[in-house]
Amino acid sequence: MKRIRKAVFPVAGLGTRFLPATKAQPKEMLPIVDRPLIQYAVEEAVEAGITEMVFITGRNKRAIEDHFDTAYELESELERSGKHELLELVQSVIPKNINCIYIRQPAALGLGHAVLCARPAIGDEPFAVLLADDLMDAAPGYHSAIAQMTRLYQQEGASIIAVQNVAREFTRQYGIVSGTPYKDRMEKMHGIVEKPSPELAPSTLAVVGRYVLSNKIFSYLEKLGKGSGGEIQLTDGIAALLKDEAVYAYRCAATRYDCGSKLGYLKATVALGLKHAEVGQEFSTYIETLELFNDQAIGKNVFHFDPNKKSVLNIV
Ligand code: G1P
Repeated sequence: MKRIRKAVFPVAGLGTRFLPATKAQPKEMLPIVDRPLIQYAVEEAVEAGITEMVFITGRNKRAIEDHFDTAYELESELERSGKHELLELVQSVIPKNINCIYIRQPAALGLGHAVLCARPAIGDEPFAVLLADDLMDAAPGYHSAIAQMTRLYQQEGASIIAVQNVAREFTRQYGIVSGTPYKDRMEKMHGIVEKPSPELAPSTLAVVGRYVLSNKIFSYLEKLGKGSGGEIQLTDGIAALLKDEAVYAYRCAATRYDCGSKLGYLKATVALGLKHAEVGQEFSTYIETLELFNDQAIGKNVFHFDPNKKSVLNIV
């Protein structure tokens, strides 16, 4: 079974949900505490032993290339002023053995099209796809979400798609899969459909932005026409692939934050802020000074904003 060495990061999207913050910078560069979203996704891939990072970029995405490149002026300035810790931080954004490849998607024709643009860099290998707006925070004791999935790929020799259960009213936001229980956390997929209405959704198992795909997906993607939203959909490519070979849905041992939405982004900031080595302790003390309490009855942290008690935010 071929080892997964390459990952595709589709980063050409416009990020309209975060305007005006994304007017002049890519949404993938929005930080969660002190690292941009794209760095979390790349670190996840590095943990899976992936060494070739293929970014599918578009207009206004130059900052992503700069982020993973040498910053000569900054580095020599930090060196000159003896700020060695900061210098190390800047230089360790990406390990030395990692190659970054940038391919421009000429027009925003959809996720399926973005993945197809990676074909020349992928060749005939299986590969991973990571959508940086889905931040996956692995459960304690587990490897990163994509590392869990590349391992399953090695075991099963088949494509693995990350899913999670969502409330039925949200099916319209996701690719939704149907399948039969297979192993722990896994379903053997029978079908997948992009953004079905709640009435038509075959289940409530929603695709989150992590995929490990057989190379055969390219031959389907290149034949696809426009699908949901008038775009070439990766979901439709997977639907065609699973008629030909086994594809498994996997519920990752990880919390997923939808950082493409403001609420998900805020939740990620709070959750990762509380765990942060430098500021976590103080941040948690600060949070405790807000009017919140630990609701032991339901085993969750619940924020109560007095005095009018209008807003309750559950952070678990
Ligand atoms: C994309 C995929 C969808 C998937 C989602 C996960 O949709 O097309 O199948 O469920 O990512 O975040 P998008 O959010 O780009 O519209």
